[in-house]
Amino acid sequence: MSVLPIRLYPDPVLRVACADVERFDARLAGLVRNLVETMYAAPGVGLAAPQVGVGSRVAVVDVTVGEEEGGLHILVNPVIVEQSGAETDLEGCLSIPELSETVKRPGWIVVEAMDVEGKKFRLEAEGFLARVICHEVDHLAGVLFVDHLRGLKKEKARRHLRRLEQESEVAV
Ligand code: NI
Repeated sequence: MSVLPIRLYPDPVLRVACADVERFDARLAGLVRNLVETMYAAPGVGLAAPQVGVGSRVAVVDVTVGEEEGGLHILVNPVIVEQSGAETDLEGCLSIPELSETVKRPGWIVVEAMDVEGKKFRLEAEGFLARVICHEVDHLAGVLFVDHLRGLKKEKARRHLRRLEQESEVAV
């Protein structure tokens, strides 16, 4: 297992529409283990494959950050099939350091996904867990939480993103 470097905005891999996983092999198992370890090391409550530079539809979520057994959800090829309600709460992203903003998300969802062996399952989630799953499923389509912002919040985020772009240019 390895803790992988987390790709930061404006890395173009964060904008890739990821491909469905078709092979449930040792390579996938290794990716999942590395995602879990990288998420816990950050520490974070969710991590998607593009955030470690892999364009596959794989994400891991644990709103307990490893504190509770059963808290870890491994989502391969996840699709949100049902949703209802709306909740607005603070959100951030490991790929966009030092920015958090309130985002409107469904209050309740059902996600269909596969485990690391390709077995399908359905997971019902509400509140913060639903929010994190929506955030990670967005990542797999190249969507970032800042894309949901409007008005003044969007303007504030745009200034922050521009600063990250300038910093990355300096780094290159
Ligand atoms: Ni994120």
